[in-house]
Amino acid sequence: MKATALAPANIAFIKYWGKQDNELRLPLNSSISMNLSGAYTITTVEFSPKVTADSVSLLGGEFSQEETARVIRGLDRIRKHSGRMDRARVVTKNTFPKGAGSAASASGFAALTLSGFAALGTAFTERELTVFARMGSGSACRSIPDGYVEWRQGKTSDDSYAVSLYPNTHWDLRDLLVIVDSRMKKISTTEGMETVTTSPFISARLRAIPSRLDRCKKALQKKDICALGEVIEEDCLDMHHVMQTQVPPLTYWNDTTRMIIEATQVWRKMGIPVYFTIDAGPNVHLICEGKNEQLVIEKLKALSGIERVIQNSPAKGAHLIQEHLF
Ligand code: PMV
Repeated sequence: MKATALAPANIAFIKYWGKQDNELRLPLNSSISMNLSGAYTITTVEFSPKVTADSVSLLGGEFSQEETARVIRGLDRIRKHSGRMDRARVVTKNTFPKGAGSAASASGFAALTLSGFAALGTAFTERELTVFARMGSGSACRSIPDGYVEWRQGKTSDDSYAVSLYPNTHWDLRDLLVIVDSRMKKISTTEGMETVTTSPFISARLRAIPSRLDRCKKALQKKDICALGEVIEEDCLDMHHVMQTQVPPLTYWNDTTRMIIEATQVWRKMGIPVYFTIDAGPNVHLICEGKNEQLVIEKLKALSGIERVIQNSPAKGAHLIQEHLF
């Protein structure tokens, strides 16, 4: 059987950086994110006894050997769980550049997990899907549930899963994903996280996270953009501080990244409640309420060095669709 899933990327408000278990991708801390309506992956999977080897292709792009092997390991986990042996054909496409810190692996593994389970006709719960997506790419578990999502750290594989805190309709936030460099990042998050404990600041980060998670949840509940913005900037800067003090240091920002951070601070002084956050790459996510989106877009037009801006509202999680890619 063939199945196709659409899964959104997500932007972490409180970030995941570092693992307790590399193999299972158990994180050092819980994290909170919002699914993105404008940045997503669509994946079609078909298992067939007639196919002799797995094939994986990316429309409009190419997977490296390493990426292909990672996708096949994801298929193997689904096959093992389902007690099936059939090989698969996988075709996938993204609406945004992969590898540039804009979470293509999150939407990718969320879409692969849902379409894979559905294509085999295996029964699953949302929680199980989040666990399998997590093993492909940690942040992928947050792209399965709807809207605003918490990934609960857990101590074992089964209890490291993601749940929806609020549906996408809860609060009309926007994430303007400002692409300043769409090339692949030099160091993957998998590789970067392996040396996290070489930063002397990781222990302080882990001590600070529980109260940040609380502040973030309260701000979401009250729909308080200033409280939310303060905690997401604090956590973003903290994660990048850890990254930059790892051995070897991970420096993902470029001059345009820094310029946008500074511009955001100026716009705030002018009375626009807009806040930045950045993943493992140079691209910047600007978070504001829907009513201020146009104002921020106008401000961005005056800056140089921007390739394009992807406008995102809060989105539903991964879901099946009827339009197959082959
Ligand atoms: O799960 P990965 O490999 O996509 O790692 C994600 C890490 C960050 O994007 C930097 C933070 C996060 O929580 O999304």
